[in-house]
Parts: sequence; structure tokens; C-alpha cells
Amino acid sequence: MYKNITSGKYEFLDDKGSFRISKAEDTSYLYFPVASEKGLKCSVTPNLGGDAMVNQETFLLEPVSVENLHNNKNGRNFWLYMDNGDVWSAVGTSAEQESKKFTMEQDESLVSAGFMWHTATRTSNQYGVMAEITSFVPVDLNAEVMSVTIKNISAEAKVVAPIAAIPVFGRSADNLRDHRNVTSMLHRISTIEEGVLVKPTMSFDEKGHRLNNNTYFVLGFDENGGKPESFFPTVESFIGEGGSFSKPRSVYRQEKGVSAGEKFDGVEAVGGLKFAKTNLAPGESVSYTVLIGVTDDEAEIKAVAERLSTKSAVDAELENTKKYWTNKVNVDVHTGNKEFDEFMEWVAFQPFLRRVYGCSFLPYHDYGRGGRGWRDLWQDCLALLFMEPDDVRKMLVANFGGVRMDGTNATIIGDGLGNFIADRNGIARVWMDHAYWPLKTLLLYIHQSGDYEILKEKVPYFKDSIVHRGNLVDKSFETKGNYQYAEDGEVYKGSIIEHLLVQNLCAFYEVGEHNTLRLRGADWNDALDMASKNGESVAFSYAYAGSLKELSMLIKQFSVSLGIDTISIASELNTLLDSYVQLYDSVSQKKELLEKYCKLVEGNISGKQTAIPVSTLVTKLMEMSDWFTNHLNSQEWISGEKNQGWFNSYYDDSCRRVECFDADDAKTRMMLTGQVFAIMGNVATDEQVKSIAEAADRYLYKEAIGGYRLNTNFNEVKMDFGRMFGFAYGEKENGAVFSHMAVMYANALYHRGFAKEGHKALKALSDASMNFNVSHMYPGIPEYFDAKGRGKYPYLTGAASWYLLTMITEVFGVKGEAGNLVIEPALMKEQFDEEGKASIALNFAGKRFTIVFTNSSNSEVGEYSIKNATLNGKEIALDGARVVIAREIIETLDDSNEINVEF
Ligand code: G1P
Repeated sequence: MYKNITSGKYEFLDDKGSFRISKAEDTSYLYFPVASEKGLKCSVTPNLGGDAMVNQETFLLEPVSVENLHNNKNGRNFWLYMDNGDVWSAVGTSAEQESKKFTMEQDESLVSAGFMWHTATRTSNQYGVMAEITSFVPVDLNAEVMSVTIKNISAEAKVVAPIAAIPVFGRSADNLRDHRNVTSMLHRISTIEEGVLVKPTMSFDEKGHRLNNNTYFVLGFDENGGKPESFFPTVESFIGEGGSFSKPRSVYRQEKGVSAGEKFDGVEAVGGLKFAKTNLAPGESVSYTVLIGVTDDEAEIKAVAERLSTKSAVDAELENTKKYWTNKVNVDVHTGNKEFDEFMEWVAFQPFLRRVYGCSFLPYHDYGRGGRGWRDLWQDCLALLFMEPDDVRKMLVANFGGVRMDGTNATIIGDGLGNFIADRNGIARVWMDHAYWPLKTLLLYIHQSGDYEILKEKVPYFKDSIVHRGNLVDKSFETKGNYQYAEDGEVYKGSIIEHLLVQNLCAFYEVGEHNTLRLRGADWNDALDMASKNGESVAFSYAYAGSLKELSMLIKQFSVSLGIDTISIASELNTLLDSYVQLYDSVSQKKELLEKYCKLVEGNISGKQTAIPVSTLVTKLMEMSDWFTNHLNSQEWISGEKNQGWFNSYYDDSCRRVECFDADDAKTRMMLTGQVFAIMGNVATDEQVKSIAEAADRYLYKEAIGGYRLNTNFNEVKMDFGRMFGFAYGEKENGAVFSHMAVMYANALYHRGFAKEGHKALKALSDASMNFNVSHMYPGIPEYFDAKGRGKYPYLTGAASWYLLTMITEVFGVKGEAGNLVIEPALMKEQFDEEGKASIALNFAGKRFTIVFTNSSNSEVGEYSIKNATLNGKEIALDGARVVIAREIIETLDDSNEINVEF
């Protein structure tokens, strides 16, 4: 049936990433996301396992972790009972199909998928039937659609009785282990003409039970809107005494089921829908729709039923859904490698997935309770700045409202703008990298848009009981909306510049014994969480050294662009500017100064502001950055063999330097994070970048598993550093190829002009991702590759935003500079097609641009330079080696434009 499809390889169906792959069910841990923007988030496996939820409290299907994917048999199912007594599961989950796995009698199967839709096709030659099940969630609904088509592929007529069976969990994920049985007693189940409803009486939470308003539903229709004949609404009626979800008695014994209008209390629920028997002539097909969802407004159930009861309505909705998501992903690349271009479609789609799912709701991500972390929030904006720039300004301004006056921030961000969740238990954990990301994202925004005005926006500060940078809890704190107040009782608001100063200045002074920044609860690497007393993140010290300079330059450009000579900041902040170079050398004086400031902003602040001359600020920040850069460079460099060398990344809780060179390679310790930020933060000189790249190739690079690993094997469970050392080497933060850091390494290299080295890092990641036989994952970039090269934690990773950003701004070199469009490519020779062309299509300043690069002489990066460029056919003057198109010109252009760049 699917003989023409190469097994173990994706076959792409269009240029928007849609693909198909045969026998996906023979690969473990595979799942695919389908979701809406309304809140319903689902995962679907090749056998239609996976789960579906709106939030932690509202799980429609039973929550699953990856290990459940092969063990649980209570996923979505669609059974066929045939007139001769044969039983077949259209999703491949019957005891019989399980027993035929790995034999010649195994069903043939195929998964096809694109953005937010998934089709599982399955054929049984033995029974002469084929099923195609498409799953998707209409963009504006909390309902997943399963559109099922059954076809008789035998030479004889068949009579089939179809039974859809969707077990409904209908409660909080917490109840999986916490009172699972007791919470089933809350269930109130009813049958209506279209299906089964489950409305628990309350949501069970021993901290405070609440009345429940949600109704979970499973509805079904035949292709003309005909309703099911009868129902199996409970687990006991569906599987029967002694039965199971892979051998349900009701199906095998052809039991009758109950009619609409019945009620069942206090038991586990199933949306078991039995349809009328149907005759299928040879080659004939019949379709059914199953809708599963949740709502707090029962009227909506009727509306959903009416809207999607017929096959034609479902087909139209599927097309809408596909179009909606395809339009969102509006950055398309064309290189000499078609597979890579398709990979990029998924990479560009991933930031949307993380916006929808957060970091919690796919099977590998079996932690957290929803919401997004601070650094993820900012980094996801990087990609959205290219794809959905309209909403980003509002989002950025609102996000700054999460900063506390002591430079730390709210760590969990709920749905909606500016919804910062105060730590409910007063447990303070400070991630010392958090202040780094806002400036990065804001800089990209300002360069893309030229909108320096945003820096003047007045934004409140976040306040809760956590004070003194997470070191103290203010027991007397009374919440008045989690805002920082001034003495006059008003909410205090400061400009975004002020917020950036608060974040970066506080960071600068929080140092450990080696006068580099304290690690605190952790930095980017969440798993470095056991060195909060004495640990230091030199890695992020490099990063902040770079930020201080960037902030200085930004303030300068801001003042020039808007003609401003002074900037007003909270008077308290003067304390952090009242310092000098000698003080920077003193760990104790720095601590004292920070402590003094934290005391000033502990309760209500004065509300007074001081006007500081721009020149003073600019010089001060530059002085700090220079001092820090020199200090770090002279103190932290580790020389290796030959030309190799690298920067130390951390000090552990025993105050010991973490990295070292040893002539015995096995004892050398090197980490990637420090190298990334030493390069990105301009602490490393160009010579040092070369040495780092050589050392990284020697100690960290493993092409087959994605390239640059996060660290060498320390062969030690370092209890004075972090949980990562408890992980097996090669897993997650302990030495896996952790895509996010590997991409940032590439970004940093490109940015410093090391395109070949950067390309090597990016290519290793994309090659490994797309090698299905090793990565065992659907297209896209995973959070990491394990020691064998399996892609883990797919879809939800900051790596995607950074990969897209790097491709656009560094590889294709298309970037904003104070709102102007600059083109300065660093494409490798191998990235052009046979005609010497490569192109990128994207939106900039509200206009669409297709930018085509022609490298007719087949030259390598570094050898070519731009010879001429045209905009919509008209030649444009070059600005040295770059193309620069001024904002004023862009504003006069039509919606769709073409730029040709020739080398
Ligand atoms: C994940 C987290 C991210 C963290 C990283 C390393 O990475 O979401 O915040 O910095 O682990 O611990 P990601 O999801 O970006 O791949």
C-alpha cells in the first residue's frame, strides 16, 4: 500500500514542511502537537495516544509522560466490528494488533502531518480495510476533531459496526496520583443524542475544593450529521468486567449500549459512541467525526455540534486551520538543500508552539504547571518579532512590568499580557541570567523598528514579599496588586531605560569571591542549582559585561535619535552609579553598595526622580563594561595545547574553578556556555575566538549527535554544583548537545565574523535533526540530542527562536539597524542551489520582501562581496560591503518587494 514510501525517512509534501513517514508507530516516543489558540492543547501519537488539556486543572484526556506513550492503551480509539466477528482498531490499539507487531501481519501505517494537523493512515490486508484519521483543533475552539474515514479495500462487501471510544479524564493532572479514585466519584456523566458529557461536581484540591464549571464532551456524527445509536459512557460499561482498553468487552461482544438521556454518577468515564452498522461495497468509504473538548458554557457544546456535524463542514474547517497556521509562519528560506528548507519551516513554527504550550504540556515536558518562564518569554519574542511584529511592542512593554526594583523579576508568567504570578509560597529563587534577556530582545526590536520611543514608556515594577534580590522575605508585605508603590501611595512607574539600568546595574554588583557574578539559584542552565552560596557564573559575567556596553551604546543612540540630553531615573538608583573603578576591584564594597540600594527599595520608594546627563550614563556604563571585560579576560582564560584555549565558565560552591586543561584529555573540563558568552559579550578577542573554536572542536564536537555538546564528562557527581551532575553523561544539561546553547554558539561565532565555524554548529544540528534513523523524531529542532543522537523534548525549545534569528540576521544577514534594512550575508558556498541562488522571504517594516542572492562565481564566504543590488528592478547604491535601505524608502514601497543581491 505504502510501498513507494521509503521507510525511516520523511517525504515532504509541499514547501511548508508537511511530510509523511511510513510505519511511524515503529518508533517509540513519537508524538505530534495539535492545538488551538483558544487553549486546548493536544498531543497525538501514531496510534492516537497522547493527551489533551487546557491547563493543569483541566485535563480532557489522562495526562501522559513519554513512557506512557507505549504502555497506555486508553488513548483515542475507533473500533470496527465486522459482520464475520472480526474486530479491528483503526488506531492500531487492539490486543491482536499488539500481538502482530514486528510480524509480517502487522498493519501497514503512515503518518502525514503539517502545522497543527495529523493524519494517521492504517491498512489491514488481512481484514481488507483501511482507515484514515485526521486530527486537528479549529483555531477558535476548545475541541479536537477526529475525522475518520473507513474504506473497504477488499473484493467483497462488508458490514461494519463502528465504535468510537475516548476515555475522559476530566479533572486536574494532579489527580493522576493524588486521589484518582476519589475524584472519579465527583464525576457526573450523562448521555445526550450526540454523545457523552462529563461534568464533575467539584475540582478537588485539599487546599480548597471548588465548584466545577467545566463540562467535558465526546460527540460523534456520521458523514451526514447522523448521530450515534447508543453509548458506553463509563469504563465499566465499555471494557466490561475483566476487559481492557485493548480488548473491550462491549466491542468484542457487540453489546448494545445505553441510549441518550441516561445518567451515571461517580465512576470513570468513556466517550463510547456506537454508530449504526453500515454496508460497504468493495472500494466504498464511509466517514465519521468525533469531537472531544471542554467548555464552561454548555450552550457551546450544541454550537460545536452544529458547526462540525457534517464531513463537508469538517473538511472546510481543516482547510481553514491549515491556512491559519501556514500563514503565521511567514519566513521562508530557499537554499541548495530542500530538506533543510523544510526543516526551517518547522523551526519557524516552533516558537508559536511554545507560546501555545508553554514549557509544560507535551509528553516529554512532564513538569511545571503551565505558564512560561521569564527567559523563555523574552526569547520567544525574538522569533515573533519577525513573524508577528504588530503585537510585540505591547508585549515587550508589558513584560518589563515583571521586573522588581531590586533587579530580579517575577519568574512565572501566566496567560495574557503582564500577568505575572507572584511566588505563592514565598520561595525565592533567583536565576542570575534573567536580567540579561530583556535587553537582547529589546535591542532586536529597536533595530528592526527604529522605535527608540519605546525606551521612554513608563512601566510599573513588580512587587511581592520577596526582597533584597531573593535573600529576604518581607512578612509584613500586603499585596496591593503586586506593584511597587511610592511613598505617596501611588504605583511607581519608571521608563524602560530605567528598568534596564536597574537590571544591569544590580547584576554588576552581585559578585562572589572571584569578583565575578554570583550564580545564585542557577543561570541559563537550570540544572546548576546546588551552588547558591559561593557559586559564580563567569559565563553570564561575560554576558553582562557585553550588555553594559550595549546598554551604553543604546542610550547614546537613543539620545541622538530623540535629541535628549538627560534621563530621569529613580533617585534611589543613584546609589548604584555612585562608584568608581577602584571600587569595582573590591568584592566587599560592591556587596555593600548593592545592599545599600536594596535597603532603599525594600518597601515603598521615594517616588522622586533625578535627571542624569546622558553623557554621564554612557561613560559610566562603558567604564563598567571595560573594567569587567579586562578583569574577566585576564583572570579566566585557560590555555590548552597548541593554539587551543577557552574561558572558565563557573566557580562551584566550594569556590573552586570548574574548568581546567589537563594533558590527559579525559581530565580536561570544558563547558560551552562560557565560550558562547565570552564570544557574544566581546570578552574574547578574535585570536581567542579561534582558540576557543579549536578547543571546542577537540573536546565538545560530535557530528553524528548534533555537534557541540554542553560540556565534557566530569565523571563526578558534583554535589557542590548542580543536579546536572546527577544526570547520566549525555542527557539534558549534562553534556548533551543542548540545541539552545549550540545555536547561541553559532550565533556568537557568526556575529564575530566566524561564519564557517558558525555554519558548522548550525549544520550539525539540522543534519542530526533530519536524520530520522538517529534522531527518531519528526522534523524540527529538539531541546537536545542524547548520547545516541535521539532528539529529546521536541517542539518546545528556545533553540528554535535562536536558530531562526541566526539564519535571518547572520546567515542571510538581513537585519534591522535603527529601523533601516541592512543586508550583509554570510552564506556558505554549499548553501546556494545549482544555479548559484539562495533566497529568503520575510516581512520587514510591514512590507514583504523576497531577497534573492546570486553567487554566480560559486565563491566561498569571505571570498565574495556584494557587487550590486536591485530593489524591485532598480539598482541601489551599496554602503561599502552592505546593502542598506533606509526606513523612509521602505515606507514608500508596495506590499510585496523583491531585492536581488549579486556577488
Ligand atoms: C530549557 C528551558 C530553558 C533553560 C534550558 C537549560 O531549555 O526552557 O529556560 O535555560 O532548558 O536549562 P529550552 O527549552 O530553551 O531548550
